[in-house]
Amino acid sequence: MTPLTAPPSGPLTGRLRVPGDKSISHRALMLGAISTGKTEIHGLLEGEDVIATGRALTMLGADISRSGAVWRVRGAGVGGLAAPEQVLDMGNSGTAARLLMGVLASHNFSSVITGDASLNRRPMGRVMTPLRQMGADFDARDGDRLPLTVRGAPLPVPIDYRLPVASAQVKSAILLAGLNTAGQTTVTEPSPTRDHTERMLRHFGADVAVADDADGRHVTVTGYPELTGQQVQVPSDPSSAAFPLVAALLVPGSEVTVTGVGLNPLRAGLYDALREMGADLSIENQRDVAGEPIADITAKAGNLQGVTAQAVRAPAMIDEYPILAVAAACALGETRFEGVGELRVKESDRLAAVEAGLRLCGVETDSGEDWLTIQGCAGPPPGPAPGAAVATHMDHRIAMSFLILGMAARQPVTIDDSAMIDTSFPGFAAQMAEIGAGLT
Ligand code: S3P
Repeated sequence: MTPLTAPPSGPLTGRLRVPGDKSISHRALMLGAISTGKTEIHGLLEGEDVIATGRALTMLGADISRSGAVWRVRGAGVGGLAAPEQVLDMGNSGTAARLLMGVLASHNFSSVITGDASLNRRPMGRVMTPLRQMGADFDARDGDRLPLTVRGAPLPVPIDYRLPVASAQVKSAILLAGLNTAGQTTVTEPSPTRDHTERMLRHFGADVAVADDADGRHVTVTGYPELTGQQVQVPSDPSSAAFPLVAALLVPGSEVTVTGVGLNPLRAGLYDALREMGADLSIENQRDVAGEPIADITAKAGNLQGVTAQAVRAPAMIDEYPILAVAAACALGETRFEGVGELRVKESDRLAAVEAGLRLCGVETDSGEDWLTIQGCAGPPPGPAPGAAVATHMDHRIAMSFLILGMAARQPVTIDDSAMIDTSFPGFAAQMAEIGAGLT
């Protein structure tokens, strides 16, 4: 355990470029590995989660190397991966585990997938159910948890599957399995989730059709595409950019710009919610890279107002509730999160972790199975009693969120463990120091 403390901060100022998008980085390596020829990835997130994906793909036969800032992948082609000799350890990453289960579901060999203590608690049945319909076999630990063995289908069959939960990971697993499957595989999502897989599949040459109707969004991939290696520029991660930007909103006198941030509309819900709270956010220099919109975002400190974040918004900001909770703790009035039961099965039970951390810091909350209310302090929250530490439960976003709370609170906030921050935001403490926040 490596505790870290954020004391109340003076004004934060400057321009930053945060690391690459985690979702896009996983997908760039995976699609590179199942394409023919060479893929070059610029701006890959070199966090532990993504490194674990690279290691697993290497064990499956892809040739992955780094030269300077560029990652090169020589892929095996669609259906061309080989049986691994060792267990595939996906570390802390649900995205890596679930997407890889999809890829492997239509490769005719067995593999064993495991993860760390946090990942091995997370539900895998949501991907096993549709992938079994395609012909794959799984043998998982009780409760559909990792470690598990996946036996890829010898003759995968296409399916037409309606997602019972809004999950880009489940959608992506099915689409990836559909690549090495004859015919058309369709996923219907009741409300749209992040579409990085669809965008990147097209970038690599796949045929992906999207149709919206009263039933939801239908995404169809056609099997056996000729995927060919590409140049991929990974945008900065909007989920990571959220931490310095919310810090700037909360610490009086601050103004911070984060450049080249991914602003895919299905990821940008936090920025809409913050604006509704009265946040001074400006978005400039909008452009597209490798099929994804990006922009520079500037946040200026000011007073915030509580807000109701409705369930319909959840998929577009599913990873941002912990940092939105920190903004809510400093706002005037009540904030309410609705339809957020999925937060209970992320890297930790994020509703419980947020609630416990906020209460420790003197913020009043209430919650149910899928909702949370936060009574804002209309300024700096009191902060914890001396000696008390926020429990992070192996969750990088809980760790960073409460460090930001410390910058805005009356008393320093200590988190019990900062080690997991490297899964998504290597260099977090150094970058926060660059804009004036001292973490000790
Ligand atoms: C992700 C999808 C989300 C998100 C996760 C990354 C992805 O999970 O929470 O951090 O890259 O597809 P769900 O799709 O399960 O909600």
